[in-house]
Amino acid sequence: MSPQFYLILHLVGVIVLFYALGGLALHVVNGGTREFPKRRWMMIIHGIGMMLVFIPGFGLLAKLEITWPWPFWVWGKLVAWLCLGLITRVILKKTEWANILFFVVLALGAWAVLLVELKP
Ligand code: HEM
Repeated sequence: MSPQFYLILHLVGVIVLFYALGGLALHVVNGGTREFPKRRWMMIIHGIGMMLVFIPGFGLLAKLEITWPWPFWVWGKLVAWLCLGLITRVILKKTEWANILFFVVLALGAWAVLLVELKP
């Protein structure tokens, strides 16, 4: 598989992940609670997004021969990915933080893009 193939899958994964997180965060910002119709569906979409970011992301690392020890930007993106995975629980548990978490999701995305473009 070409690096381009992995990059396309990776970016589709980013879209799916933020689509799910945006919907969930907005649901809680609008006063929604942790139990709602289609919750399972929303979590499945989130999980698919997480996998589509992770697996092609590592495929890309291999294709681009970015080996161990990983540069800072790879670690930073991995931390962003982990946070984007765990934040669903926080969004649904800490509904009083809904407004802040809505922007934390955006900030995590911006941080990941900054890292991959600047590669510090
Ligand atoms: C498991 C964590 C992740 C890994 C291992 C990973 C790995 C990679 C790699 C190796 C590239 C190609 C870099 C290059 O072409 O030089 C890339 C591109 C990219 N990644 Fe990730 N990534 C991860 C998570 C994320 C997350 C959470 C986002 C969310 C915004 C993201 C957004 C992007 C974008 C936008 C590009 C395209 C950059 C470009 O073509 O200019 N990645 N990623």
